[in-house]
Amino acid sequence: MKETVVDVKNVRKVYGKKNENQYEALKDVSFDVKKGDFVGIMGPSGSGKTTLLNVLSTLDTTTSGSIKIAGKDITHLTSDQLSDFRAKELGFIFQDFNLLENLTMYENIALPLSLQDVPSKQIKPKVEKIAETLDITRILHHYPAEVSGGQKQRVAAARALVHEPAILLGDEPTGALDSKNAKSLLESMKGLNEDFDVSILLVTHDAYSASYCKRILFIQDGEIFKEIHRTDTREAFYQEILDVLASFGTKE
Ligand SMILES: Nc1ncnc2c1ncn2[C@@H]1O[C@H](COP(=O)(O)OP(=O)(O)OP(=O)(O)O)[C@@H](O)[C@H]1O
Ligand SMILES: [Mg+2]
Repeated sequence: MKETVVDVKNVRKVYGKKNENQYEALKDVSFDVKKGDFVGIMGPSGSGKTTLLNVLSTLDTTTSGSIKIAGKDITHLTSDQLSDFRAKELGFIFQDFNLLENLTMYENIALPLSLQDVPSKQIKPKVEKIAETLDITRILHHYPAEVSGGQKQRVAAARALVHEPAILLGDEPTGALDSKNAKSLLESMKGLNEDFDVSILLVTHDAYSASYCKRILFIQDGEIFKEIHRTDTREAFYQEILDVLASFGTKE
C-alpha cells in the first residue's frame, strides 16, 4: 500500500462573515491522494475547484475539517509554519507561468532552493537533473523573453519540482498553451509521474488534459459527486470523461 500524501476529511469552506451574505463553496469534501497518484479535479464554473486548490495549497483557510499533507495537519499551523511548509512540501504550476523576467531559466528554477538557503553547490546538480528530465537544458541560460511558451511552462514545472515537494498542484497549467505545447507539458508531467513517482493534483476544464490523469474527481456545488479511474487507453478515458461531463450538462 502506498503512503498517503494528501488526506482531506470533511472539509467545508464558507465565504463571508456571520450575519453577512454567506456562501458555502465546499460542503463536506473528503478524498485522499497516494504517493505517485495523478488526480484531476473537474467541474463547472463556480463549483469550488479553485477554492479547493487554495485550501490545499494553504493560500486560504478551511471553515472546518482537516487536511493532512505529508502527514502534517496544515489546518492548525501558524503563518510562519505555513510558509515554511509551502516552501518544502508543495510545488505549484500556474496558467501564466509566473517566471521572473529578469532572471535566467536556471535562476528561476533554483529560486525555491535559494529561498530555503540551500548552498549553491547543492543547487546546481538538482537544477541540472530536473532540466534534463524536462528537456530544457539547452535554454537554462536564456531569459524568459527568449524562449517559447511551452519551454517557459516546462521551466515553471521544473521550478515547481526542484525541491522534491510532496505534491505538485496545478491550476489549468496548460490553459495558456497552444495544443502542441500543451501536449508536450502533459507528456512531461506523465513522465514525471510514471518514472519518478511524482504525485500530481491538477484542476482543469479541459477533457484532453484530464485524460492524462489516472483518476478524476468531479465536483459540483461544492461536493464531489463522481470519481472515475483510468483502466484502459488514454483515448478511451478521454471519451469516458466527455460522457460524464455531458451527462451532468457541465461540458465546457
Ligand atoms: N472570496 C470569495 N467570497 C465569496 N464567494 C466566493 C469567493 N471566492 C469564490 N466564491 C464563490 O464560491 C464558489 C466557488 O468558486 P471557485 O472559484 O472555487 O469556483 P471554480 O470551480 O474555480 O470556478 P471556475 O471554473 O469559474 O474557475 C463560486 O460560487 C464563487 O462565486
Ligand atoms: Mg477556478
